[in-house]
Amino acid sequence: HGTSQINDKGHLTIGGCDLTDLAKEYGTPLYIVDEAFVRQRAREFVEAFRATGLKFQVAYASKAFSVMAMCAIAEQENLSLDVVSDGELYTALQAGFPVERIHFHGNNKTPEEINMAIDAGIGCFVVDNFVEMSLLNALAADKGKTVNVLLRITPGVEAHTHDFISTGQQDSKFGFDLGNGTAFRAIEETLKLGNLNLLGVHSHIGSQIFEVDGFGMAVDKVAKFAVKVRDELGKTFSVINVGGGFGIRYVEGDSPLPLSTYVNAIADAIISNFTAANYPTPEIWIEPGRSMVGDAGTTLYTIGTHKEIPGVRKYIAVDGGMTDNPRPALYGSKYEAVLANRANAANEETVTVAGKACESGDMLIWDLELPKSESGDLLAVFCTGAYNYAMASNYNRIRRPAVVFVKDGEASLVVKRETLEDIVVNDVIPQRLRKASV
Ligand code: LLP
Repeated sequence: HGTSQINDKGHLTIGGCDLTDLAKEYGTPLYIVDEAFVRQRAREFVEAFRATGLKFQVAYASKAFSVMAMCAIAEQENLSLDVVSDGELYTALQAGFPVERIHFHGNNKTPEEINMAIDAGIGCFVVDNFVEMSLLNALAADKGKTVNVLLRITPGVEAHTHDFISTGQQDSKFGFDLGNGTAFRAIEETLKLGNLNLLGVHSHIGSQIFEVDGFGMAVDKVAKFAVKVRDELGKTFSVINVGGGFGIRYVEGDSPLPLSTYVNAIADAIISNFTAANYPTPEIWIEPGRSMVGDAGTTLYTIGTHKEIPGVRKYIAVDGGMTDNPRPALYGSKYEAVLANRANAANEETVTVAGKACESGDMLIWDLELPKSESGDLLAVFCTGAYNYAMASNYNRIRRPAVVFVKDGEASLVVKRETLEDIVVNDVIPQRLRKASV
């Protein structure tokens, strides 16, 4: 997993850092991100595109893990950035991320968010629907500005992935439908609006996808649409964004292909379709989130209590759970884990890893093979870099863990652990509810 190794003490190490040391220094639960691994992923995408000779942008979908240090890495690796809210935009801007390389997504951007992005000089908006389209045009007109836009279209390609997280089908809250003429009408509308500069279209077919064919199919549909728009409206797209969704290996049986395989399939589909139509090859943009950070992350927990139901099951409880990783509860997601402080020990029993939240659905891993563990042992759960910290909550008023980046034997704190003061920082007791002062 990532660059995790076992040292001569039998401890798990990541990025050259001994996880037992990290637990002592930063406490648990702790998110650990292998920085070299993230950079390696970024470079794989960028180099695969470079090799195609096409113009491209690789935008990191910051929803997967949006913190300022991650934005800094994305900038250093020459990535663009996809944001979906004022919070993600603010994070990027505070990190000094070049605003012209930021793309603003979302199906319900508020006027405040749109104004903030225009004022900052955002690279482009990915317009999701007609309401947003006219609002954006009006707000840009108020400021005497023209903004770059892509239109999000729903290509109706169904990627093989978990139902809850697929967004490419026809019946989706996102985008303009390709199949029923809505997307075409949206292009016509955009071209009439004086403060929108239409760069092209965007499509996203789902998440945690392994099959390469879905991407090629989506490009085929988008390319046919582009040709129709050129032929009937005289407008040529300069950008095609095919979204993210490249799968990673969480557990045995997950079989992602090398990133270059996806990139090449997309590039081939672009080149063949547009060449055949004698169409100037558009720039190709992608938006990977999970595949950039997912397997670079590990969560380190301390094992506390256990409960054995003879002949049924043994639960071991960790000091986190659905509050730092809601994915098993939400999607039934599977994870692998090992004892970080006795990484060489042989597996002896099957356990179920429970979280500490007051909810029976708070389970992290069902039926995990582990050595016999006791209170104080450390459990490392792999592939938690994407949609874990990003989706963490304070349910039960449990504090969100710290995040550290590890690299070449050095750990750097990138998010502090929440304190008990943080838990109440926004709480207000109205005067009328206060205890009479004595
Ligand atoms: N672009 C768009 C427009 C998206 O909607 C998404 C993800 C991405 C890019 C990045 O997709 P990725 O490369 O990370 O698959 N919370 C869920 C995943 C939701 C994904 C939503 N959209 C999970 O934990 O699995």
